[in-house]
Amino acid sequence: MKKINFASDNYAGIHPEVLQAIIAVNDGPAIAYGNDEYTHAATEQLKKQFGNNAEAFFVFNGTGANVTAICALTKPYEAVICTDKAHIQVDECGAPEKLSGCKLLLVPAVQGKITVENSVKHLQRVGDQHAVQPRVISLSQSTEYGTVYTLEELRELAHFAHSHGLYVHMDGARLANAAAHLQTDLKTITEAANVDVLSFGGTKNGLMIGEAVVFFNSALAQSFLFIRKQHMQLASKMRFIAAQFQALLANNLWLNNARHANAMAQLLAQELGKIKSIRITHPVEANAIFAIMPKTLIEKLQERYYFYVWDESLSEVRLMTSFNTSEEEIHCFVRDIKTALTS
Ligand SMILES: Cc1ncc(COP(=O)(O)O)c(C=O)c1O
Repeated sequence: MKKINFASDNYAGIHPEVLQAIIAVNDGPAIAYGNDEYTHAATEQLKKQFGNNAEAFFVFNGTGANVTAICALTKPYEAVICTDKAHIQVDECGAPEKLSGCKLLLVPAVQGKITVENSVKHLQRVGDQHAVQPRVISLSQSTEYGTVYTLEELRELAHFAHSHGLYVHMDGARLANAAAHLQTDLKTITEAANVDVLSFGGTKNGLMIGEAVVFFNSALAQSFLFIRKQHMQLASKMRFIAAQFQALLANNLWLNNARHANAMAQLLAQELGKIKSIRITHPVEANAIFAIMPKTLIEKLQERYYFYVWDESLSEVRLMTSFNTSEEEIHCFVRDIKTALTS
């Protein structure tokens, strides 16, 4: 029997409309390296979502998007302020530091979020030749803990960053889920955060492969073609990434997918909340649920379901929903929990 996925939106397959879009552009040749009609059309669609000043470049993956975005913003003696739970800190094998040469300056995450209060200390040595110079604040929207910055929180961070000469980088691997939660459009979020460069996720929201690096400051975009190539993120057959974004951005597929994933997370949280021996540890806002549950239960469930043990010492797991999680899968999971707890 195939296991059911609550591990990650990366475990999910390709949305059928996206797969169809790949097939549809397969006939005949197309100009390589992004000079094709599909790439032009997809970048225009991104302008519609994010505003006319948005300049988008497609890359292969989220790590590549983050690394190249950071490289475009920094010099090697500069630094990026982020949380100690940020994907760039814990899950990119040190690539942002290795490839940009920049140190990451960490602040403790508060429900996954970076705060002004925690960031200020990193400004103490600005101008001191012995210290790295902070240049970027990087925040993840939604966060690695499935929480979502409010627009007010984003405005406060943006004001802090820009008034201290820092750029704002947003890791938007799950920006769609954040927009669905906030019931707003993508542009309202990037404008509130006054984002300089965004890593915009596609893979987690139904694509096979592909993310976009979106610049809101055209001076910063000038050298990006070269940075992307040097970092091996330039696809020769770009049309196949572009076509996926075209499908995702057409007819609000991005929003419907994210809304569905979030709704499934809400349903799962609601059901788990009724079970006494399970405690949810973070607000459930996007498509992730963190919960503490008995170790024996985790072992039993892992026979039939994919999910991650997040913190072994706390017996905390991460459950994640995606565009194709079904209500039936959730009810099945909850039923199995109840059975395991009573047997
Ligand atoms: C918040 C966040 N940013 C970036 C990424 C990077 O994605 P990739 O695995 O495609 O490099 C992930 C992947 O899980 C993520 O969760």
